[in-house]
Amino acid sequence: MKRIVILISGRGSNMQALVKSNIAQVEIVAVISNQSDAAGLAWAAEHGLATEALNHRDYEGRDAFDRALMERIDTYQPDLVVLAGFMRILTPVFCTHYVGRLINIHPSLLPAFPGLHTHQRALESGCRVAGCTIHFVTAELDCGPIIAQGVVPVLDGDTAEILAQRVLRIEHQLLPQAVADFVAGNLVIQGNRVNRLEAGITDGLVCLKN
Ligand code: GRF
Repeated sequence: MKRIVILISGRGSNMQALVKSNIAQVEIVAVISNQSDAAGLAWAAEHGLATEALNHRDYEGRDAFDRALMERIDTYQPDLVVLAGFMRILTPVFCTHYVGRLINIHPSLLPAFPGLHTHQRALESGCRVAGCTIHFVTAELDCGPIIAQGVVPVLDGDTAEILAQRVLRIEHQLLPQAVADFVAGNLVIQGNRVNRLEAGITDGLVCLKN
């Protein structure tokens, strides 16, 4: 059984997709948020998951918050920590502590558009495709070896909100697949590249045509 801690900051739809996917040999041991009123936290509690809130404003700075967060996470002894809409920049100490067992979902086709407002930036850049990336986390923001990417078209008349909805549909497919691959021990990090031991499980790419 692999133990997973999920970190969220808001509605937690990716967390819900992961929970509902019921991956074999996976136990979601806790959902932790830096926002006590995160909608996703209430959903997780209603579904019988252990939840915790750690308000970053209660700590003196990034280092102190990350240290406290690490302490809480480590009580659950996770094999994997999933950042599913966790809207905090993490310190190098945190990233190093969980190296190789910390993954993030980002709503763009990295390395394009790290950071915020990804959909608006994709529209303004005239991109014909957009998407999301699941990657191992390193100390550099939205970098790190890419596990999987999901691609959607950018359609005429799209707004950032419409595009975000389309990308979210593919996020909900891709995150459980990436976690299943990790849990199966199928991912091998080689430099900045993630290779798959078995081609059969997923190939790390999902495309939506509309
Ligand atoms: C998602 O778009 C995710 O890619 C980004 O933040 C959003 C979180 O949405 N990191 P949700 O909380 O999972 O619904």
